[in-house]
Amino acid sequence: MKKLILLAIILVVGICLFFLIPSHKNSNTLVAYFSATGNTKAVAERLATAIGADLFEIKPEQLYTTEDLNWRDDKSRSSVEMANKDSRPAIADKVTGMEKYKTIFIGFPIWWGREPSIVDTFVTSYDLVDKTMIPFATSGSTPSTEEAAIRLRLLAPNTSVPNGARFPVDVTAEELKTWAGEWL
Ligand SMILES: Cc1cc2nc3c(=O)[nH]c(=O)nc-3n(C[C@H](O)[C@H](O)[C@H](O)COP(=O)(O)O)c2cc1C
Repeated sequence: MKKLILLAIILVVGICLFFLIPSHKNSNTLVAYFSATGNTKAVAERLATAIGADLFEIKPEQLYTTEDLNWRDDKSRSSVEMANKDSRPAIADKVTGMEKYKTIFIGFPIWWGREPSIVDTFVTSYDLVDKTMIPFATSGSTPSTEEAAIRLRLLAPNTSVPNGARFPVDVTAEELKTWAGEWL
């Protein structure tokens, strides 16, 4: 009998804890990122862990080689893509269940002052109506994601797109969590 009562108490306490302890998983938040050389990837992974969001890498169907990334060569793949505002380089995978996400943090390296064309492919591949999409980026020196935000608003007119932020690669998880908190 005593054992039964003890078991019942453990069960009740367990159920109470299950409902009382808040989950740290933001199941309706996605961190999607493109990264050619790893800087944005590091920041995106830190952000997703810090806020408990799902993570999705925007992987190009055809990976960018070092030559592709040469901005000094106006015939390199990145230069050609970025010179054409309608360029939409193909992405290898799709996000499954995009409908369930209400908030999307979208990360990328700044290329030519804005988001790389493959980010435009991503944004125009889904119905993002009524979602919030927050840009974040790494860059050599460009200080903000404002130019990218202006373009993303045009590509996703029924999506709320704040200006977002540019981060140094060594931004801490705590700093990212505080920043992201505004939209969570
Ligand atoms: C094609 C190309 C264009 C770039 N244009 C800019 C730019 O306009 N401003 C800037 O500050 N950095 C620029 N960069 C530097 C990247 O934004 C920076 O190295 C970034 O951290 C790379 O991120 P990733 O490692 O995630 O690809 C450019 C890099 C490449 C490859």
